[in-house]
Amino acid sequence: MSEEEGLPLAKPVVGVPEEQLVAEVLRSGHLSLGPRVIEFERLFAEFVGARFAAAVSSGTAGLHLALRAVGVGDGDEVITSPFSFVASANVALYERARPVFADIDPVTLNLDPAAAEAAITARTRALLPVHIFGYPADMPAFERIAARHGLGIVEDACEALGAIHADGRAVGARGNPAVFGFYANKQITTGEGGMVTLGDPDMKARIDSERNQGRAPDMGWLDHDRLGFNYRLSDIACAIGIAQMARLKGLLKARALVAGYYRDALAGIEGLDLPCEDQGGNRRGWFVFVVQLQRGVDRDGIVRRLAELGIQSKPYLPAIHLMSFYRERFGRREGEFPVCEDVAARSLALPFYPGLGEGEVERVAEALRSACGR
Ligand SMILES: Cc1ncc(COP(=O)(O)O)c(C=O)c1O
Repeated sequence: MSEEEGLPLAKPVVGVPEEQLVAEVLRSGHLSLGPRVIEFERLFAEFVGARFAAAVSSGTAGLHLALRAVGVGDGDEVITSPFSFVASANVALYERARPVFADIDPVTLNLDPAAAEAAITARTRALLPVHIFGYPADMPAFERIAARHGLGIVEDACEALGAIHADGRAVGARGNPAVFGFYANKQITTGEGGMVTLGDPDMKARIDSERNQGRAPDMGWLDHDRLGFNYRLSDIACAIGIAQMARLKGLLKARALVAGYYRDALAGIEGLDLPCEDQGGNRRGWFVFVVQLQRGVDRDGIVRRLAELGIQSKPYLPAIHLMSFYRERFGRREGEFPVCEDVAARSLALPFYPGLGEGEVERVAEALRSACGR
């Protein structure tokens, strides 16, 4: 939907600095495997407080390489959240491993550590918690479980740039491979793109090699010593990312401001649950503003009524295990993960991006109030 048609769900903030840096890359002729990749990685690792970062072509590519790096392979099981974007489960299938779902916490909407531990079998190889909607997953609990059972951890931080754990460390700084995404709706965007932050130099070398067709840095152009992929992020994309990093703090603040407008404007709508407040020192990195409608409300009707008023909204997120591919391939059915299914049936994403004005948020709130009241 264009701006003229109403309020879109998301809108990236890009401008002159991006254009200038991209123009420089184009003039340099070094469009891929060049210095902008290294610079973007350095800036990103520094911001997050991670030892290393590896730029990749998407969040999905990063999750795939991170799972390989922690040793997931044929026949393994990876425990993850059914309340996520489908990529976090699909990546296990790329390695002929099986995504095993466990239910979520009804407040944070993140994978529930106790449910994850209960799902461990002799085949479990890794845990893949997702920092959903930018709210930090309970990593200390997952790290204890992983240590007890000898498992790897990959963090899906695709929605969580700017999120902070209770101990003050940023999401992505704990040393586990953590994967960020730069699709156009994310906190920063490179159009498409991703970044893996991590603490282990051998894993960093492996990911660098596997994103580049399995070539080590000291090897010749057409020599490859392992299986790899083309998961590179171009210097053009990295130049956009570098410009976005320069405004990241402002972008995060602007998102938090819009979230504050929503909290005020939506207060008091009967039966409407808002995203959980930050708890116990954890801080959300704002990505989307998703509300939970009252049980039994006609969500599709509300989406239609908001659209009539020029406001985009979207059921978000659907439960992964109930998607047709997962039903057909794995025989998944309703009732397996009741918390996730309840949340997924009631969730609605509202327009949310830096620069959305207080008046516009109030207009969305008014429209939602009237739509819910009908
Ligand atoms: C939770 C989550 N995981 C994974 C991804 C995949 O990232 P990408 O679209 O960059 O491949 C996304 C992005 O939409 C996401 O939100």
